[in-house]
Amino acid sequence: MTVNELFEQLDFKENPLYEKMIADLMERQYSIIENFFPEEEVVALRKSLLEKYEEDCFKKAAIGNRNSEVIEKEIRGDFIFWLNEGDAEGAEHQFFCRINDMIDYLNKTCFMGIRQKEFHYAVYPKGTFYKRHLDTFQNDDRRKLSVVFYLNEEDWKPEYGGELVIYTGSDGKEEEVTIYPFPGKMVIFESQLLEHEVKPVERQRLSITGWLKTS
Ligand code: OGA
Ligand code: MN
Repeated sequence: MTVNELFEQLDFKENPLYEKMIADLMERQYSIIENFFPEEEVVALRKSLLEKYEEDCFKKAAIGNRNSEVIEKEIRGDFIFWLNEGDAEGAEHQFFCRINDMIDYLNKTCFMGIRQKEFHYAVYPKGTFYKRHLDTFQNDDRRKLSVVFYLNEEDWKPEYGGELVIYTGSDGKEEEVTIYPFPGKMVIFESQLLEHEVKPVERQRLSITGWLKTS
């Protein structure tokens, strides 16, 4: 039996978007997908984020894991709100459906062994940034893939700053990949391999950041 025949039997449908993402990850440890979310889902998530932000649900993001938090505004200046899948409704429920679909696909095709996930909303007020770092410095080597989704307004402009810069390259030759936080875009990268930073923002910058973990 060929692999394709096996997939047919398993009722598995190849998804070109995920296939591109997997190919990118294997080749260069990161992938960028424009319009991962349709506009109406971005609008709904942004609305939900802003409601929670205005209700003061967010807290200053810290450095270190949740047991040893140090707030250090010289390193990061964002405010975050952890999402709980168990009581997610509306836009957030839809969000987790999409994520779970992606995780199922990764586990079926790449034997990634993703068993856990964690996601938070993030707001970077004007003037804030997140200095160059590796996501696993948070003392959590179960983090396998970092995922970021941007929820900025449709008219977001490059000059508003807040670019995500990923440092890649090998053989001592470092390369910088600059990614503008346009709404609907998803960026996924190897948490343990790629250092990255968020450049200072000129406008409030909105996103969801999360990690796919092996346990
Ligand atoms: C993070 C992070 C990147 C981004 O929260 O650890 O690096 O573009 N975020 O928001
Ligand atoms: Mn990071």
